[in-house]
Amino acid sequence: MRRPFVIVLALLLIIAAVVWQTLKSQSHDQEEKGSYTEETLNNETNQSVKVVTLEERDEKTNSVSNISYPKFGQDKIDARLALISDDFLTRYKNAVTGLADIQVSYGADYVQKFEITFIKDQLTIVSLEQYASEGGGTGTDELKTFIFNSHTQEEITPAQLFKDEKYLDVLSKLSREKLLANFEKSLVDTDFSDSTPTAKEEFIDFSKKMITDGTEPLATNFSSLTLNEQGSLIIHFDKYQVAPGASGLVTLEIPYQEISSNFSDFINQIFTPKQPTNKEKESVKKPRLSHEPSAQTKDDTSKTDCQKHACVALTFDDGPSIHTDKLLDILKEKGAHATFFVLGKSAKYQTQTIKRMAQEGHEIESHTFRHRDLRKLNQDEIATELRETDEILEKIIGRRSQFLRPPYGAVSDSVKSDVKRPLILWSVDPLDWKDRNTDLIIERMSTAKVGAIILGHDIYDTTIEAIGPVIDNLRKKGYQLVTVEELLSGHDLKAGQIYRHQ
Ligand code: NI
Repeated sequence: MRRPFVIVLALLLIIAAVVWQTLKSQSHDQEEKGSYTEETLNNETNQSVKVVTLEERDEKTNSVSNISYPKFGQDKIDARLALISDDFLTRYKNAVTGLADIQVSYGADYVQKFEITFIKDQLTIVSLEQYASEGGGTGTDELKTFIFNSHTQEEITPAQLFKDEKYLDVLSKLSREKLLANFEKSLVDTDFSDSTPTAKEEFIDFSKKMITDGTEPLATNFSSLTLNEQGSLIIHFDKYQVAPGASGLVTLEIPYQEISSNFSDFINQIFTPKQPTNKEKESVKKPRLSHEPSAQTKDDTSKTDCQKHACVALTFDDGPSIHTDKLLDILKEKGAHATFFVLGKSAKYQTQTIKRMAQEGHEIESHTFRHRDLRKLNQDEIATELRETDEILEKIIGRRSQFLRPPYGAVSDSVKSDVKRPLILWSVDPLDWKDRNTDLIIERMSTAKVGAIILGHDIYDTTIEAIGPVIDNLRKKGYQLVTVEELLSGHDLKAGQIYRHQ
């Protein structure tokens, strides 16, 4: 290629990335507003959602995966989501095998989080966001969406949302118009002063062609469709489909009124306004979550003074999960308190478990939102991991976390300065994530000495089975089981400092 052409091309790509980054951040703001509504958290149906988290690590290749998906107690839906998640885990394992002979500082990193939207008791919509990176690279983001009939548990395909096959032409036309309009709008704010008129023109042509190609009336272009509570159609476009890769996944909303004449009768009957039933009226009047002092401080006034007593702290990471309530039963029966380092992505949906933790006097702290290795994130991404988790906790229990336990205990100097709060690690690691063996876990946890912080994971039933005997063993040694806050209460804790204690 001739050099001037290469320069023009490079320039085009940079401008394209900047413009689409702007577009993306606009659409991202809209998304965020929608995803943290009180409605989502208060939804009655939500109470039955439990979180399954699969975690795998490979020390040889420095690879990690943390895969979460919901379990509704509805066999067909649960099986479908479990299958997709298991496939993702298999992809991770294959990636690890592929890396086996290569020396890398960060191997494969696979993370899955999910979002649920319940619509008028009739639809259950689940999106699984799968992030995968190998060898410390930027990685790929993929969104998989599933719409289920809440009663029959049947999956509703994109085509079944509409009355006939003409829907692809309609979606093509509507989405192309909207994306082109958004693009034109973004041009107004773009500074082209550094580019030649030809470069500007080529950039515009290139972008428009991407939009046109990506919105051709093909089923593959419109395979990721969902609905929101208002009946608007949400179209998710893959990375590189309608914009440069820097924009990531592009989301477009088509208001209900614009698309309803194409929807199937089943979908329209869900969104047609009808008189609210008495039950619905009542639920509207239901008071919002109070922000009074949390149950944690209300119910639990007796703090143990660890300057005077022999204390140890049991801590649990990666929950809440499908197993956490059983752990809470055991702790309640034993009259012991623990500290839960929870994931925002799971706390958001298993809200009843988080409330129960607070009411029963346990400490709730942050283990980030997605369980990414923080050493691979920049300052903004770390801040987002912390803020999103705290916002969820504040909504559920009325308080934010004060400590952070970094995923995998992975810390670097920049992580320490970016988190701006004390980092809590551990002094006893039973390796319960590796050895799913209750007897081994009992043995290892019971070696704890005065002042120990004991690590555990409430995503494994093998760990939870161990806790009753562990509590008995520790008490036989004369120890009191306390929260991390109690254990460290006499200390002057500093932001960015690591505490393992003992
Ligand atoms: Ni963890």
